[in-house]
Amino acid sequence: MAYSDKVIDHYENPRNVGSFDKDEDGVGTGVVGAPACGDVMKLQIKINDEGVIEDAKFKTYGCGSAIASSSLVTEWVKGKTVDEALAIKNSDIAEALALPPVKIHCSVLAEDAIKAAVSDYKAKMGVADEGYEVCKSAA
Ligand code: FES
Repeated sequence: MAYSDKVIDHYENPRNVGSFDKDEDGVGTGVVGAPACGDVMKLQIKINDEGVIEDAKFKTYGCGSAIASSSLVTEWVKGKTVDEALAIKNSDIAEALALPPVKIHCSVLAEDAIKAAVSDYKAKMGVADEGYEVCKSAA
């Protein structure tokens, strides 16, 4: 099976490989696995006080399409709000990378990783928001 030029480009020059400290404020971490092949993707987003994703990083132990999908979405989510990032569909990723049907699940992994990272961020912020409310009412 031939990979598209865009997959090869992201595979050979992956963007935003790395990690943030998962305990850092504003960082959401999503780790997802594909049961079909055993590949694993970690995607992290760093969200500023305005709710905008200012940075993203990934580490993927998987096939070329999974690496390209995660590299691509780290580029796409930067500058987006959380809601805009959640609107990214695996079909958008598959289309951008010209993935063949057998590789669609690799792009699903990237969509799921974004959702998992956002949920992690929201769970963390939920706690912080409560703290903020408590402080306000105490003042
Ligand atoms: Fe499973 Fe690509 S073959 S993520």
